[in-house]
Amino acid sequence: MCGIVGYLGARDPKEVILKGLKTLEYRGYDSSGVSILNKGKFKRVRAQGKLSQLCEKLQNEDFDGHLGIGHTRWATHGKPSERNAHPHQLNHVNIVHNGIIENYAEIKEKLIKNGSQFESETDSELVAHLIEREMNFNASLLNATINIIPGLRGAYSVLAVSEKTPDQCVAFKNGPPLLIGLGEDEIIVASDIQAIISYTKKIIYLEDDEIALISPGKVEIYNFKGQRIEKSPVTVNWDASQIEKQGYPHYMLKEIFEQPRAVAQAIDPHIDLSTRKINLSGVGFNVDNFEGPEALDLKNDLLNTNEILQTIERVFIVACGTSYYAGMLGEYLIERAAEVPVEIDLASEFRYRYPVIPKNSLLIVVSQSGETADTLAALRQAKKQGALTLSICNVPRSSIDREAHGHLYMNAGVEIGVASTKAFVSSLALMNILSLSLAKAKGLLNEDLEKKCVDEIVAAPSLMEGVLAYDKFFAQAADDLKKKRGFLYLGRGVSYPIALEGALKLKELAYMHAEGYASGEMKHGPLALIDETMAIIVLCPKDELYEKTISNLEEAKARGGMIISIGTGDDERLKSISDHYLSLPETAWYVNPLLEVIPLQLLAYYVAKSLGNDVDQPRNLAKSVTVE
Ligand code: M6R
Repeated sequence: MCGIVGYLGARDPKEVILKGLKTLEYRGYDSSGVSILNKGKFKRVRAQGKLSQLCEKLQNEDFDGHLGIGHTRWATHGKPSERNAHPHQLNHVNIVHNGIIENYAEIKEKLIKNGSQFESETDSELVAHLIEREMNFNASLLNATINIIPGLRGAYSVLAVSEKTPDQCVAFKNGPPLLIGLGEDEIIVASDIQAIISYTKKIIYLEDDEIALISPGKVEIYNFKGQRIEKSPVTVNWDASQIEKQGYPHYMLKEIFEQPRAVAQAIDPHIDLSTRKINLSGVGFNVDNFEGPEALDLKNDLLNTNEILQTIERVFIVACGTSYYAGMLGEYLIERAAEVPVEIDLASEFRYRYPVIPKNSLLIVVSQSGETADTLAALRQAKKQGALTLSICNVPRSSIDREAHGHLYMNAGVEIGVASTKAFVSSLALMNILSLSLAKAKGLLNEDLEKKCVDEIVAAPSLMEGVLAYDKFFAQAADDLKKKRGFLYLGRGVSYPIALEGALKLKELAYMHAEGYASGEMKHGPLALIDETMAIIVLCPKDELYEKTISNLEEAKARGGMIISIGTGDDERLKSISDHYLSLPETAWYVNPLLEVIPLQLLAYYVAKSLGNDVDQPRNLAKSVTVE
């Protein structure tokens, strides 16, 4: 949602904060600001629009202090404007906030009655008011924070500083992430590791209900009751080079090209190449704190992943956006391979639909960021109802990763483009691993079949490399495609989630009307949309549904739409009814989605680029949606 950076140390805080905000701009990019100590006072500079506007304003500003906080915003309460940009300041107190204070209206009303005047329309500003009021009654910055927290409802992470304590910063959180990097003579606090990693790899992950008091060379952690907690930093192994564009014009294109590697990294821990066997090692189901002993027949000695999988009688998959489409593929694969019934849900629906979760259920949550508010809430809800839970995340130690009983990692590396690409293919690959592991646990995967499946999955990355060559086709076709009135993406079976994902990518990036449809549904309504101004992108692999998809396509063709088809090998029949035919190499039906999505991502990328849109940071979106 928003990005936060705080700095206390020997370097120029302006440089560190701006560099950090740049790496966090994906989290929000409608306004930004900093407050940095200068001659004992916090000098605040804010700007509406992209971070570059702020950088411009700060060009000739110098600061002599060594403490500062910064923020990049994605508006929730109050429109994007300089007035609503963070930091919020009241006299000596400055704060930045990520999340939502749900009871802000009632707090604000009380403060106004007591004479406070608000500068912005945000829910965040009141935190500065509350802390300032406490400090006026002689509370220290830490105690002021401890005193105000019980009155706040919602999901928030906050950094607060005061001129009265010019060598201290307080960080506290209940919801969105906050990480503290411990460098040599410096401490950096940020919403994401990207803002920290070029200074230090020693990180403290602040948990919910924790406050960090940061002073020179020292971080003390307290709980919300003010009791001291001992916490050691962990050393992370991410690399600063992962967050550079490395010669690509956009992060998104770089990430599309990184997809073969992302898939290889996702499957690597789960495939033994010498025996050609699949395993779910590393999932590490932690059932010690399992909250549903009545609901799942887990005995104390039953901690082996394979044995746990044997007990599963029903699977729920819950996610949002692109991760939801990866989950949809999981539904097709798990039901077919493991014969376990699967329900797939949007997290925002699941959490409010009073789901019935029967005994022996496994709930899988998929989330690149591991911070999506709805997905996290769905996970908590399912845990309460007794489900065993498994997260599939790209960001280790993210909230979802930490709270689930078991863990799978996308291992896609840092994904910066707001439109998700490589995390999606990694998730698809993990859905393959998961469905086969479940099938194996259920005794439905014999050794020969297992070896065959392993061979197909292991071959996927090099097949994907070949498909990336469609880059050139879409770079050229984009100028024509952008003139279309709308796009229909069609697919059946395992290609259906890919059609939906293709349409989402185009909407996000090109801001054009695009819909994904199961091809069999065309005649039930959407056929009416088709005329020569529409582009129809059809996924038509040579699988058991091939003939049916071809007839659906003929129906569309007869109405005059421009057809781009994506099929298998040298398919003359498909070619003859298409305006453009893109051939994919032959592979197994369950691996094919990994290949099919690449041309769709390239299409969206090049159309958006040709329209002059901001590909990495599309309008109105944020990479990590940590509010409802
Ligand atoms: O981090 P998550 O995977 O939980 O995010 C879920 C969606 O917000 C995300 O996939 C969104 O749809 C992307 N912008 C898609 O490109």
